[in-house]
Amino acid sequence: MHRTRSRLELTAAALVFVAGAAAAQTPADPAAVPAFRKLDSMEARAQGCVTCHGQQGQGTSNDYFPRIAGKPAGYLYNQLRAFRDGSRRYAPMNYLVAYLSDDYLKELAEYYAALRPPFAPPQPAALPPQGIERGRTLLQDGDASRQIPACMACHGPKLTGMVPGIPGLVGLRPNYIAAQLTRWRTGERRAAAPDCMQRIASRLGDNDIQAVAAYLGAMAAPSDPAPDPRDIVRMPVACGSQQ
Ligand code: HEC
Ligand code: HEC
Repeated sequence: MHRTRSRLELTAAALVFVAGAAAAQTPADPAAVPAFRKLDSMEARAQGCVTCHGQQGQGTSNDYFPRIAGKPAGYLYNQLRAFRDGSRRYAPMNYLVAYLSDDYLKELAEYYAALRPPFAPPQPAALPPQGIERGRTLLQDGDASRQIPACMACHGPKLTGMVPGIPGLVGLRPNYIAAQLTRWRTGERRAAAPDCMQRIASRLGDNDIQAVAAYLGAMAAPSDPAPDPRDIVRMPVACGSQQ
């Protein structure tokens, strides 16, 4: 009896030691696996997401898997619900969130919104000079002749997004951006009405999409990637996701 207790005490002491060592290990490396303090912690729940979105939501080397860290929580929550309800389609995402509750999705959204992992290096734009100029013009000024507002008018002057519903566009890869704009044009991706991105994307030609996507992919990330506060600008078109 005495023997058994001391062995148990030893095990308990060893566990405390292991837990202490794990807590001291802060993951400075965004790819480092975090030490779970609780089995049902947010870090543990997020393990289902890391193969595609990276250990801290920074994305992976796959040029289609998007960075999700640091986007406004309201935006991320809207996307998770859209995948669950089918108004945004990507089969693995649809399956993964199919049975998750609003509260669970909100907590995941808040968790990723608060993370600030480093950005991957930008990719040089594979565009002729007029393509680069077209990308810059659409982002900064838009194209009044085709009623396309400047992307910065809503996504912010640093393109880091605006709370609560507008995502940052820096740190996303050209393939992903081009695919999203194309999906809005074809109606495969939908957002809350009025769906401003649907209106805008439907006025963009294929060359416009390639130009903004490549230009964005080549932009260096700003030192402060936090989204702008709500209503910092008067948006040129109303967006359901921002109401
Ligand atoms: C099999 C790979 C994979 C897994 C696992 C995965 N995702 Fe995704 N996720 C994607 C891809 C690819 C997209 C973009 C889909 C599209 O084309 O619209 C995406 C999109 C998203 C978006 C929208 C991003 C944006 O900027 O609009 C969010 C939010 C998201 N995922 C969160 C999660 C969370 C949270 C988990 C874990 C519960 C998860 N994902 C697991 C691949 C994955
Ligand atoms: C009137 C405001 C407004 C303007 C102008 C605007 N956007 Fe958006 N954009 C939004 C909103 C709102 C969303 C989020 C929609 C949702 O909830 O899915 C969004 C989302 C996006 C996304 C999805 C990002 C992701 O992580 O999946 C891309 C890409 C995008 N916009 C590109 C652009 C480009 C390129 C332009 C300029 C040609 C532009 N936007 C102009 C409001 C705007």
